[in-house]
Amino acid sequence: MASPPSPSSAAPTAGAPVAIVSGANSGIGLAACVALASAGHIVYAGMRAGASADALLAAVAAAAGPATNADGTTDAGLSSPSVGAVHVLRMDVGADASVTAAVASVLAATADRVDVVVANAGYGAIANVEDASVADFEAILNVNFLGALRLVKAALPSMRRRRSGRVVGISSVVGLLGWPFYGPYSASKFAMEGLWESCFSEYKGLDVHFVLVEPGPVRTGVASRAFIGRSPPTDIKPAWDTFLSTKMPAMAAAAQTADECAAYILRAVTDPSPALRYMTHPSQGALLRAKVTDLDGAGAAAALLSMVQGPAGGGDDRRPAEAQHGTDAAVPGESGGGVEGLD
Ligand SMILES: NC(=O)c1ccc[n+]([C@@H]2O[C@H](COP(=O)([O-])OP(=O)(O)OC[C@H]3O[C@@H](n4cnc5c(N)ncnc54)[C@H](OP(=O)(O)O)[C@@H]3O)[C@@H](O)[C@H]2O)c1
Repeated sequence: MASPPSPSSAAPTAGAPVAIVSGANSGIGLAACVALASAGHIVYAGMRAGASADALLAAVAAAAGPATNADGTTDAGLSSPSVGAVHVLRMDVGADASVTAAVASVLAATADRVDVVVANAGYGAIANVEDASVADFEAILNVNFLGALRLVKAALPSMRRRRSGRVVGISSVVGLLGWPFYGPYSASKFAMEGLWESCFSEYKGLDVHFVLVEPGPVRTGVASRAFIGRSPPTDIKPAWDTFLSTKMPAMAAAAQTADECAAYILRAVTDPSPALRYMTHPSQGALLRAKVTDLDGAGAAAALLSMVQGPAGGGDDRRPAEAQHGTDAAVPGESGGGVEGLD
């Protein structure tokens, strides 16, 4: 159950935009809260009942820094006036009642105002489909997809009434392309992508903008919290081993920081005419271009197969010439364009 928002680092600024971020106690969500607060938002930082807010509040305090007096001196404890307030909001996105109560408590405190929702809470999974149970799929869909849906449904009526809002979904490059062994996770992010794309056109006319942010690899604690498959079938094991031994280190090497990722979230929130999607990792564009221009899926198929076949994997490379040469530096398996977290 949600408890009322508790005030923290600074006093809210009248008229400042109000943002709710889920999964705000760590990683990308934490960085997004700091970025939004630094840009003057009043941030309601969603986190589960047991989660510590210490790291978030310390990061907000560090971002605020001491404000400068008129004579150029600084006083400890005086917050920069450009940094908005951050409130801890107890919210478990996996439970209807918790999200409903949490968002209602924000709307009660802001006179029915919420300008931005960042549906960020989620966890990763790397598992073969036969290895993961239906319950494993239900669990990740309940948090990564239905958790985002719950937040959207709780906040949308207020945005619609006010004819204004940004609904940011933290998807993934794996929400656009189903990597091997990402079945449960990709399913949850593909679901988010589909919902967001549908809502985009339904709400655009009301100035309520659905925006997807699609990180590639980001250096957070996501891997330590992920669901990892128990034991794939024996005849799948070689592909599993190849993927883990070749792709995971490449992903780690290519990872961005959470702050870099949060800069895209801030852009998604502040761009006067927001795009439908913001891809945060420069290495992923060519791969996805190959997917969408190659309608029988050959471009994506070749890239995905390379992830489980290793360098000598060979196979039928039916990617278009444009994807086989030149700009295709990001196809995983060729350059290591991937993730450190998990995607
Ligand atoms: N890191 C990457 O490489 C990467 C790439 C693409 C997309 N993403 C996406 O980015 C988002 C943030 O991930 P991250 O990398 O920042 O990982 P992270 O540091 O593990 O953050 C995930 C956050 O979600 C929260 N969360 C999990 N289940 C929740 C629930 N039921 N209710 C409320 N909060 C819950 C976690 O809280 P607890 O501490 O309570 O578990 C944590 O604060 C996720 O949606 C992830 O899929 C990450």
